[in-house]
Amino acid sequence: MLHHLIYQSTALIVFSEGQLGQLMHHTRQRNQAAGITGMLWYDGRRFLQVMEGPAPILDCLFARIRTDCRHARLQVLANGPIRHRQFDTWLTAIVNGPAQPSANGCPDPGSSLPAVGDEELRLLLNDFQRTALSTAAHLS
Ligand SMILES: Cc1cc2nc3c(=O)[nH]c(=O)nc-3n(C[C@H](O)[C@H](O)[C@H](O)COP(=O)(O)O)c2cc1C
Repeated sequence: MLHHLIYQSTALIVFSEGQLGQLMHHTRQRNQAAGITGMLWYDGRRFLQVMEGPAPILDCLFARIRTDCRHARLQVLANGPIRHRQFDTWLTAIVNGPAQPSANGCPDPGSSLPAVGDEELRLLLNDFQRTALSTAAHLS
């Protein structure tokens, strides 16, 4: 059955442009090959990731992602069955570019997104999707 899983997390390292490019390239290749659609969005501090696909594949992928030491404080925003995919393909977006190191050399941990209702989540994702589409051209 088709599921989606949406989470946000906080970056634990200051990603250089090269590291980000590599991560985006890696996720695009692996996810497209596995039939996973969705997006990975990065704003210099936080990741927001939407993944859509068969539940067993998503579970396996998320088990791998959640142990990745480059991010922490993963917060699942949605996880469950969906009727249709919201994304046709795999998108990646970097908003604001790579983070600038702060005075102590660590990225600002930032604050958590507040809990959102279904309608808010839909609007939020539409917004993220628009951002991703408008920046995708710069990345490909
Ligand atoms: C924020 C974030 C999101 C990631 N998303 C994905 C993803 O969607 N698909 C994927 O294959 N790897 C993703 N990764 C990378 C995995 O956590 C892991 O490092 C990688 O898949 C391991 O690849 P390997 O099995 O070839 O060593 C992500 C990593 C981070 C930090």
